[in-house]
Amino acid sequence: MSGWLITGADGMLGREVVAALRRTGAPVLPLARPDLDLTDAAAVHRTLRRARPAVVVNCAAWTDVDGAESAERAALAVNGDAVRTLARACAGVRSRMLHLSTDYVFAGDADTPYPEDAPAAPRSAYGRGKLAGERAVLEELPRLGTVVRTAWLYAGHGRNFVTTMAERAAAGAEVRVVDDQYGQPTWARDVAGRLLALGGLPAERAAGVFHATAAGRTTWFGLAREVFRLTGADPALVRPISTAQLGRPAPRPAFGVLGHGRWAAAGLAPPRPWADGLAEALSATTRPCPPLPSPSPPDAPDAPDVSGFSTGTYDSKGVA
Ligand SMILES: NC(=O)c1ccc[n+]([C@@H]2O[C@H](COP(=O)([O-])OP(=O)(O)OC[C@H]3O[C@@H](n4cnc5c(N)ncnc54)[C@H](OP(=O)(O)O)[C@@H]3O)[C@@H](O)[C@H]2O)c1
Repeated sequence: MSGWLITGADGMLGREVVAALRRTGAPVLPLARPDLDLTDAAAVHRTLRRARPAVVVNCAAWTDVDGAESAERAALAVNGDAVRTLARACAGVRSRMLHLSTDYVFAGDADTPYPEDAPAAPRSAYGRGKLAGERAVLEELPRLGTVVRTAWLYAGHGRNFVTTMAERAAAGAEVRVVDDQYGQPTWARDVAGRLLALGGLPAERAAGVFHATAAGRTTWFGLAREVFRLTGADPALVRPISTAQLGRPAPRPAFGVLGHGRWAAAGLAPPRPWADGLAEALSATTRPCPPLPSPSPPDAPDAPDVSGFSTGTYDSKGVA
């Protein structure tokens, strides 16, 4: 048994995890949805029996938060049922499983960070499905399973809140962004590092729940302003709006701030502040982000409507 198997390998986080593993030289089997659809139970068991990986990282998920409200059963099939299938297949070949989850398992009405063992109380169909997935991993793999909750992810590739804000900043465009939801903007590359660190721990120290979000907190408005500032645009172009002004189908946690106590207990450093990760992600020296597409003028007919960027939370393509 050796190597890492990555599901959802073509997603925002999956791509970072595969790249991070390749940088270390570790054997990695990246499987995108066409290679392995997690809802095909026979294929999941067959793949695990053949590959017998030491570690499986499940980056695959139904991530359309609003879409889940009107298709809860379909979302649950991927985020709950298929996760149980994968966890059972891992148990069958004694593979460890690192499974990604979300702050949406919490109600979002707290005013201090949620510790790893805080009671879950999801308010959305997406959150309920992700909670079902968490429970499946912890039940099927009590010693070999790790649930890694993250939130507010961005990456240098694909459409996400940060790349879209950087485009709008480059265009000198005014944007209206939600200022009443608090969270922890987290660079997907930092989460990939955390996953590799967890995979390097003895299984018994990594079992259970970890929170892989950046430290500190801000709002989508605060994040957008920081992107504008770091890219040399005028932060005053970012205007605050409320969640109520936006009106999205799925409720968002007003407070999605997660505590990080388990990292120290596991002998690992705590996450760094969100603004540090963002600065590195946008830095010209490390160039983690590919060149941004040429911005459309703000009044162009095909210019994206970015007014709803509270809602970018789980819309990893970065469109409202
Ligand atoms: N993005 C965030 O801000 C955020 C926040 C909190 C937690 N998370 C969690 O982090 C994880 C990674 O998220 P992400 O942002 O990287 O999502 P993503 O970019 O949407 O990637 C998810 C991947 O899963 C694939 N997938 C969907 N259904 C599948 C199935 N039945 N079988 C196999 N693959 C399937 C998707 O393929 P297709 O593209 O073909 O559909 C996509 O490549 C997820 O567990 C998510 O819930 C994300």
